[in-house]
Amino acid sequence: MKDEVMQELHELGIIPVVVLDNAEDAEALSDALVKGGLPCAEVTFRTDAAAETIRRMAKRHPDMLVGAGTVLSPEKVVEAKEAGARFIFSPGLNPSVVKKAQELGLTVIPGTQTPTEMEMAMGLGLDVVKFFPAELSGGIKMLKAVSAPYVNLKFMPTGGLNAENVKDYLAWDRILACGGSWIAKNDLVKEGRFDEIEARAREAREIVKEIRG
Ligand code: 3PG
Repeated sequence: MKDEVMQELHELGIIPVVVLDNAEDAEALSDALVKGGLPCAEVTFRTDAAAETIRRMAKRHPDMLVGAGTVLSPEKVVEAKEAGARFIFSPGLNPSVVKKAQELGLTVIPGTQTPTEMEMAMGLGLDVVKFFPAELSGGIKMLKAVSAPYVNLKFMPTGGLNAENVKDYLAWDRILACGGSWIAKNDLVKEGRFDEIEARAREAREIVKEIRG
């Protein structure tokens, strides 16, 4: 795989989705993920704390793979890049977001659910897309069916995944990585339960090893 970030995402296997209300939690949260052996985070632009969270995590752990999620406009792509994001994820396929990320040299993985969206992504030069919301869209069975014609497309399922059902996705060789919020749940952060987040990160790492070897 020529893209270094894609390679890292594949090696990590599971990517924690992070929704922080307060950027002050960035250091403790990134420490927990790194200690748990899962040095990465998709920091979602659903809260005003996103850019500052990315900035703090990237500074604290320069080797950690920190990127932006829920990126809904080209302006947010620029903001994410300036904060230090190394990838751009989005829930849907917005060509202006994809093009801006490509222009800035950022790895971009937009969300898709249907054949039409997958073909649109391929038309934009992409060979990896999210499958979102994975579980409610029919899970791994639906993903295998819908993607059968697109033999060169790889996937990153997100939405409704947990430490159990993630195994079914990881076992398929066309999964780049899986994303989910269960590792660093917003409530756990708010309650300061960073030990639990570290334990969930470690468990996720072990699942990846167990399934992919
Ligand atoms: C999201 O964008 O919300 C991610 O897909 C995570 O979904 P989850 O909260 O169901 O894991």
